[in-house]
Amino acid sequence: MGSEIPDILSAEFAENPYPAYQVLRDEAPLHHHEAMQSYIVARYEDVERVFKDQVFTTANYDWQLEPVHGKTILQLSGRDHSVRRALVAPAFRGSELEEKFLPVIEKNASELIDAFRSDGTVDLVSQFANRFPINVIVDMLGLDKSDHARFQKWYTSIIAFLGNLSQDPQVAEDGVRTKEEFAEYMLPIIRDRRSNLGDDLLSTLVTAEIDGETMSDEDVKAFCSLLLAAGGETTDKALASMFALLLQHPEQLAAVREDRSLIDRAFAESLRFHPPVHMIMRQPSEDVEIAGGVIPAGSTVTALIGAANRDERRYKNPDAFDIFRDDLNVTSAFSAAANHLAFALGRHFCVGALLAKAEVEVAANMLLDAMPDMKLEDGFAPAEKGVFTRGPAELRVNFTPA
Ligand code: HEM
Repeated sequence: MGSEIPDILSAEFAENPYPAYQVLRDEAPLHHHEAMQSYIVARYEDVERVFKDQVFTTANYDWQLEPVHGKTILQLSGRDHSVRRALVAPAFRGSELEEKFLPVIEKNASELIDAFRSDGTVDLVSQFANRFPINVIVDMLGLDKSDHARFQKWYTSIIAFLGNLSQDPQVAEDGVRTKEEFAEYMLPIIRDRRSNLGDDLLSTLVTAEIDGETMSDEDVKAFCSLLLAAGGETTDKALASMFALLLQHPEQLAAVREDRSLIDRAFAESLRFHPPVHMIMRQPSEDVEIAGGVIPAGSTVTALIGAANRDERRYKNPDAFDIFRDDLNVTSAFSAAANHLAFALGRHFCVGALLAKAEVEVAANMLLDAMPDMKLEDGFAPAEKGVFTRGPAELRVNFTPA
């Protein structure tokens, strides 16, 4: 007899989703969740297909994100999508990233580390990971970092809206208020930037021409809102997870400390093992056969990244954190050819993946230098929080100041 199909909305699932993912993969690879009104897929090959096959549209973002952002590239397809994506993509890779934005990343990492480097103790979540990626994207856009608390409140509320699986009315209300507050804050800045251009990403957005027309203030605002939410919450959790996992595997931490070229490996493996985004939704444009069943056109599909990344049909010993595993391709891990699913795949593959990699490389190097003997505080065990997005709630570390 099979196990009972676990409920994604239950407290047990929030505590530890991995046993539930196993049951879903083995016994219900296509599961209909009544309360979420969604079909759930859990195996690697099915989640991969949901991301790559264009029958699975992103129309779900019309209700899942548009009420808090306005319309963004996540909802677009075809040329509309590629033209707008190309406006920001160069800033997140290659020479523009290295020459213009790497110094911004380095400055932000060292500013935050300076604040605790002589203390001998730190919570890497609240004192570093929560602040670093959002500060970077705020600086890249040319906004005011002293407004950090507001940005953080806004992006947390946007991500909560996105992941509001139980349709909590308070979360929905907060999301809509965030949209209004963010518009009130951003629209005057956007209007001002149009006549006071700088060397920043916001200036790129306000001057960009699409088919001979510039983007409206509303469109630019929606783009900024997406960048703040997508670039803040995810990299924050990725960085904290990587350090939590390394600190729990001291021999792998020692190897990375010794050979810093292993940081990319450690990052890729922690994205597989503890992805910051555990699920992404889609809406098929026609009836689709998948995972032994049929998903009707127009219904919602939830693709479980967290489950797919632990699929034993795809990875050997998937529940072991092993930065040396030979079935995860590190060279392609930050591109659309990746063989893990943390950044999704296909048309909407994370446009910020290389920025995230650059941030993690810089931060990890600086943190390892500043804390040569870092270890978890005695008696402290890192615990993860979150269902839609997930990462360590805190990460208390002790060290002898360098
Ligand atoms: C480790 C860190 C990150 C993770 C795990 C991550 C994850 C993801 C995922 C899963 C998607 C696909 C969403 C979908 O297909 O529905 C996505 C898309 C996106 N990400 Fe990231 N992300 C990260 C970092 C960043 C950063 C630093 C930025 C930039 C500031 C960023 C900007 C975006 C944008 C704009 C999209 C939409 C792309 C499109 O629609 O073409 N992300 N990300």
